[in-house]
Amino acid sequence: MEETIKFIQEKISGQQPEIGIILGSGLGELADEYCEIAIPYNDIPNFIKSTVKGHKGRLVFSDIAGRQVVMMQGRNHFYEGHSIQEVTYPVKVMKKLGVKILILTNAAGGVNETFSPGDLMLITDHINCMGTNPLIGENDETLGERFPDMTEVYKKSLISLAEHCANELQIHVKKGVYLANSGPSYETPAEIHMARTLGADAVGMSTVPEAIVANYCGMNVLGISCISNTASSTGGSALSHKEVIETAGKIKSSFKNLILKIIEELN
Ligand code: HPA
Repeated sequence: MEETIKFIQEKISGQQPEIGIILGSGLGELADEYCEIAIPYNDIPNFIKSTVKGHKGRLVFSDIAGRQVVMMQGRNHFYEGHSIQEVTYPVKVMKKLGVKILILTNAAGGVNETFSPGDLMLITDHINCMGTNPLIGENDETLGERFPDMTEVYKKSLISLAEHCANELQIHVKKGVYLANSGPSYETPAEIHMARTLGADAVGMSTVPEAIVANYCGMNVLGISCISNTASSTGGSALSHKEVIETAGKIKSSFKNLILKIIEELN
């Protein structure tokens, strides 16, 4: 970790980002527009490379509305074969760089039958069905405690702020529970039925490990899902990664405006 932080801090000449954003599938444009310093993951000691199409794989630093922001343009997923600890390593790096607020974004399948592709959902809570937990292993007391509380992983005040910003921009947002599976296979109709029965509104293959680690480290988390498709049993037709990327592409400008507004209003 010391090596990673030293390398990054040299590149950003001592800047202290206070807001972190992890940009999900097809949602990386914000980091193209606001990019002062970009460091490919491959160049960073002890970072892992991102292997999924639609994910660029670089850490981008920029001033946005007077705030220092660090963005992950592309994330690492458990299904790529990385350990869950490796997947969440960048969140710990952000914490060490000074990040206090972490905005997690993703493309997700809509489980709630009132959701349509192109909807944005503010994550109110999550269900971890990945079969693992990023905090397994020896605990680093400098980051957080062994048995961290998880009653308000997604900060209510940030959800209210995001709702307020969406209203101002006349963007309609939903709210709901995100359930994470390991992937990479999409869910079967029976699994979507199970997710709905468990109380999930959206399903995906990311975000939850990062949210657990961020909350454990004492960061305030906001989660936004871009509903890219109706999950399995609801739509009736076959699902492809292409469809996920295409829908994310259609919604990216309202998504970007919402994030920018949230950053402005955080002041
Ligand atoms: N299931 C899981 N992950 C996803 C989906 C889905 O339907 N859509 C986008 N990511």
